[in-house]
Amino acid sequence: MAIKFPPISSKLPAFMHGADYNPDQWLHDPQIFEEDIRLMKLANCNVMAIGIFAWAALEPEEGQFNFEWMDHVLDTFAKNDIYAWLATPTGARPAWMAQKYPEVLRVEANRVRNLFGVRHNHCYTSPVYREKTTIMNTKLAERYANHPAVLGWHISNELGGDCHCDYCQSAFRDWLKAKYGSIDNLNRAWWTTFWSHTYNDWSQVESPAPHGENAVHGQNLDWRRFVSDQTLDFYKHEVSSLRNANPDLPCTTNMMDWFYGLDYHSFANELDVISWDAYPKWHEADSDRHVASWFAFNHDLFRSLKKKPFMLMESTPSLTNWQAVSKLKRPGMHRLSSLQAVAHGADTVQYFQWRKSRGSSEKFHGAVVDHVGHEHTRVFQDVADLGSTLAGLSDIIGTPVPAETAMLCDWDNRWAINDAQGPRNSGLHYEETVAQHYRALWELGVPVDIVGSYDDILNYKLLLVPMAYLLRQETGEKIEQFVKAGGTVVVTYWSGIVDENDLCHLGGFPGPLRTTVGIWSEELEGLHDHDRNSLVFNAENPLGLEGALEVHELCDLIHVETAEVLAVYGDDFYAGRPALTVNRLGAGQAYYLAARVSEDSFYQSFYGELVEQAGVRRTINCTLPEGVTAQLRTDGDTDYVFLLNFSGEEASIELDHDGYVDAESGESKTGKIELPINGALILQRKSN
Ligand code: GLA
Ligand code: ZN
Repeated sequence: MAIKFPPISSKLPAFMHGADYNPDQWLHDPQIFEEDIRLMKLANCNVMAIGIFAWAALEPEEGQFNFEWMDHVLDTFAKNDIYAWLATPTGARPAWMAQKYPEVLRVEANRVRNLFGVRHNHCYTSPVYREKTTIMNTKLAERYANHPAVLGWHISNELGGDCHCDYCQSAFRDWLKAKYGSIDNLNRAWWTTFWSHTYNDWSQVESPAPHGENAVHGQNLDWRRFVSDQTLDFYKHEVSSLRNANPDLPCTTNMMDWFYGLDYHSFANELDVISWDAYPKWHEADSDRHVASWFAFNHDLFRSLKKKPFMLMESTPSLTNWQAVSKLKRPGMHRLSSLQAVAHGADTVQYFQWRKSRGSSEKFHGAVVDHVGHEHTRVFQDVADLGSTLAGLSDIIGTPVPAETAMLCDWDNRWAINDAQGPRNSGLHYEETVAQHYRALWELGVPVDIVGSYDDILNYKLLLVPMAYLLRQETGEKIEQFVKAGGTVVVTYWSGIVDENDLCHLGGFPGPLRTTVGIWSEELEGLHDHDRNSLVFNAENPLGLEGALEVHELCDLIHVETAEVLAVYGDDFYAGRPALTVNRLGAGQAYYLAARVSEDSFYQSFYGELVEQAGVRRTINCTLPEGVTAQLRTDGDTDYVFLLNFSGEEASIELDHDGYVDAESGESKTGKIELPINGALILQRKSN
């Protein structure tokens, strides 16, 4: 029986294809809107995100509302089978509000309040901002929640940033009181005896500041957690005034690629559907494999948040205007990058933006409709073609990605790792490390989930734990259970160092993972950028890998306790000491990689072996050329195999068996498949 998730909206059980649309910028010229409707149909667009940043058009003066233009837009959409994600306009605020109520504006870490301007410049705690939001959202909901064109709510825009105003300080203290109960508990958790930072009273505690406290790591970490929670609280506040009018409308907010400032794992339960904005920097190099695998990681991250299909809320139809150099998408790239999102679980392909604005900072950002105003452009044609492709792929909607491999990536680990002053202040390169491990699986065409410490991991076969510096005791125990039950885990250097309070695990690193990996780490050396060591495989190691590999940046000097040594260091005073080990525990095994290996080829052959040993399914059992990946969606009856060529060259793939059918043309495919530069092919086969 086929297993699928229901479509994101039952009103539109098709791929959603469309863009952010700002008719509020063109109210002075009504013909533009009429022309836009004609063009939207020509571009095979069926959905628009409207009202983002439209507060001044909706409430031109305090308490005076103007919804007529929005009525006209939505009514016209409904007549033309175009649907809307209706935004709450809180991503930017009108000048009158900032002038009358300065408290809505953000205070920076230096304790200076911002002036009116730009966007996203508001305090998430300010009672006035929250009240104005409630009034606006209630009116929007009463008027539009049951409108036939409205599919769901787009809450604010790209939530992010922090505010250090008095309201936020007092909310931070309340958050800390709820967490720690007593000031003594807080002092212990934050290790405030260091440099005499002990607090006697809650009123002394403030957010970190460049000219104040910033050396207490537990405090920095809690501030980040608080900011994330407070932003989520603002999201929930927005949603609370929308729900009454129609509880069935899904709510989302557009997220950003592995955004540093917010712990999206904690947002996942509150959002009805995950949506995100992807802006890869294509064509920086001859091959796009680095960029493509990084965005694949992000698509996987966003799918994994709810373990179900997500929305690509924004992407550019051509170029951006904010990257250092804004390259045009090469022929094929629009289709390829859009289908990449679909391959990883997106059920929508949406853009920023529908029509280029005439003035202000984004007037040169790519759009479906350019300043020329007609449809006879390369970009418009690419968009229209993709729309017609998506219209033919409706069977894929709702199909899961069947990942048997997971990678552990927690936000608080990332925050703590980057805060730590230690072995390499010139760059620990956590994110690059995650990207390098992930890339190997991407090149092997292995579907991957990106999980957090609170996710279930028992059902995976292979688990990657790169640089899990902050590791809770419970997470360590969970990983141990996973291995005992037959799982394969890979743990790297600089894991299991601190607990959830950023206090070092005592009694030997990697703390809660010591028994699982069967090693003890005595010292960690940071290497200069120009330093190199090597990892030399032992003869006849069970992985069958051989030779010597260059390592750089971090070398962990470990002692095996119960583990077997697979490779040793080649140089320096620690030559001959273990560099790669495996520990057999229960029915599973735990690898420990002690040093950062430079070359991608190591990760490919290492994970290639583990994937085979652990019986992890690859999308397709054949060699994939470098820069070409195969990704899988399946309903259990039919598999959809996405062959995506980011290599910058023509590529060919030898299919592993017969029975493949081109999902677009219905042609059957066997033997050798040729993929053009930036080619994307979707094949169907029966699931087994
Ligand atoms: C973000 C914003 C959009 C727009 C684009 C430009 O994703 O959400 O409003 O500014 O960037 O790339
Ligand atoms: Zn504030």
